[in-house]
Amino acid sequence: MAVQAFAQEQHMKISEYLRAEHKTISEDVWRLEQQLEIGSLSITDVKLTVRTIAAALENHAKLEEKVLFPALEHALGRDDGPLAVMEAEHSRIAALFSRIDGARDEDNVPMLTKELTGMLLNHFSKEESDLFPKADELLGTVEIDESGSVQLV
Ligand SMILES: [Fe+2]
Repeated sequence: MAVQAFAQEQHMKISEYLRAEHKTISEDVWRLEQQLEIGSLSITDVKLTVRTIAAALENHAKLEEKVLFPALEHALGRDDGPLAVMEAEHSRIAALFSRIDGARDEDNVPMLTKELTGMLLNHFSKEESDLFPKADELLGTVEIDESGSVQLV
């Protein structure tokens, strides 16, 4: 994965790493929004694209939840404040992914998907403006081992 290779060479900040992933995923999200706008995808293809985005987000969200959030917990608290907000949004996003994946004929998949894409883009920009600057202040760089797992160094 290109972002990982870059991080290995550069010892990038965790925010740079996560921003780079946001950028890649956002491109897929924007493309999907455009396709929804012009109605060029079948429901099956919308669901397939949503599944691809969910898969791309899985490791990303795990890195945030398992590495970034715990590292910031001491400074920001966990039960309220930005970490609680981000975590709640992760749950809402995950729930919407499953809802679209398991949608039935009577569900409006394009509408649910538009809700999802809006939620994702909004969530990314919130993390980038509220959380990542904190991470830059408080945390070091990341290192990626050969198995692809990311650690703060
Ligand atoms: Fe997130």
